[in-house]
Parts: sequence; structure tokens; C-alpha cells
Amino acid sequence: MNSQYITTLESELAINLVAPMALIKELMPVLDKNVDATIVNVTSGYVFIPSAQSSSYSASKIGLRAITQGLRFNLQKKSIRVVEVVPPAVDTQMNKGKNMSMMTSELFAQKVFKGLIGGQDEIVVGISKLGKLLSRIAPKFGFKKMNTDEEKQRMEMRLAEVGLHYKE
Ligand SMILES: NC(=O)c1ccc[n+]([C@@H]2O[C@H](COP(=O)([O-])OP(=O)(O)OC[C@H]3O[C@@H](n4cnc5c(N)ncnc54)[C@H](OP(=O)(O)O)[C@@H]3O)[C@@H](O)[C@H]2O)c1
Repeated sequence: MNSQYITTLESELAINLVAPMALIKELMPVLDKNVDATIVNVTSGYVFIPSAQSSSYSASKIGLRAITQGLRFNLQKKSIRVVEVVPPAVDTQMNKGKNMSMMTSELFAQKVFKGLIGGQDEIVVGISKLGKLLSRIAPKFGFKKMNTDEEKQRMEMRLAEVGLHYKE
């Protein structure tokens, strides 16, 4: 671990965990006045199986999941709905250039809205459902499998950048 890791960790926590909570706090007076107020926090499949390569990102999302669950409990008295969306890999800007299987943003949006309209408080989409299941029935296997696959993917990407192919 180097000092760059600490900088990344601080930045991930500030953007992914502190900022959403600060925003919710500022919006509370407005949410309080609305009949159908809903807060939607976006976490990640890494809340079920953390990524060793993106451990600070995973930690920020696991923290956001914990706070979202706490908020849901605390705000039920005020009838403010608190939803957690748990996406799979989706083809957005943050995944540009990555060589992996991704859900289209259109399909992802459809699934999120279906969950919102259907009254779900935890909308787990695509492969994140498998992550949730594995985290319950075979957590060690799930962790090893996902992280080994991610490591291989990264290796393939790095080699492809210099025109080489990965061979096991
Ligand atoms: N895409 C996935 O595979 C995936 C999977 C799991 C979870 N998520 C989560 O889904 C959420 C949305 O991500 P996305 O896939 O839609 O990614 P995206 O298309 O790259 O959008 C990220 C958004 O965050 C903003 N942003 C980035 N860094 C910021 C900073 N330092 N301060 C303020 N705003 C910042 C960007 O603003 P600008 O447009 O101004 O740059 C952009 O609006 C994120 O919370 C992400 O962690 C995504």
C-alpha cells in the first residue's frame, strides 16, 4: 500500500459516501414536505463481493449500503422511501474502453424503473444478483472467482494495449 492508495481512499469516500449523505441532509426539508419522497442511492455489485483491485471503491459502496439501510429504517416514520440500486457493469462513461461484458444503459434504466414502480427497496440488477447469492451460499468461492476473473481481465487489457495476447 502506498500514499497514493490513501489519497484514492479519501477521494472515493468523499465522492461516493460523504457527498450523497451531505446532499440528502441538505434536501431533507424538501423531502419532508413531499408526499411521495424517494431517495435512490446507487451502490455496486461490489457490496456483495468486494473487488481486490478496487478495494477503496468497494469500501465506499459497502459504506453507502450500510447508511442506506440505516436511513431506510430511520425515515420510515416520515414515509420517505429509501431505495438502493445495485448495478452490474453498465456501458457508461466510467467503463469506457474496458473489455468486459456490460449491460446497456437503456436496459439497466428499464430494470431500475421497473423496480421503482414495483415498490422494491433494493433493486439488484443483472449479474449483481449472482453476487448477492454467492455472498450468501459460497462467499469464499465467489470472492476468489470474481477477483481471479478481474485479474485476468486486467492482464488481457494491459497486454492488448501493447499488441500482445494473454495465454494461461
Ligand atoms: N457503470 C457501472 O458499471 C457501474 C456499476 C456499479 C455502480 N455504478 C455506480 O453508478 C453511479 C453512476 O455511474 P455511471 O456508470 O453513470 O458513471 P458515469 O457515466 O461515468 O457518470 C459518473 C457521474 O459522476 C460524476 N462525477 C464523477 N466524478 C465526480 C466528482 N469527483 N465530483 C462530482 N461528480 C463526479 C460525473 O460528472 P461529469 O459528467 O461532470 O464528469 C458523472 O455525472 C456511480 O455511483 C457508480 O459508482 C456504476
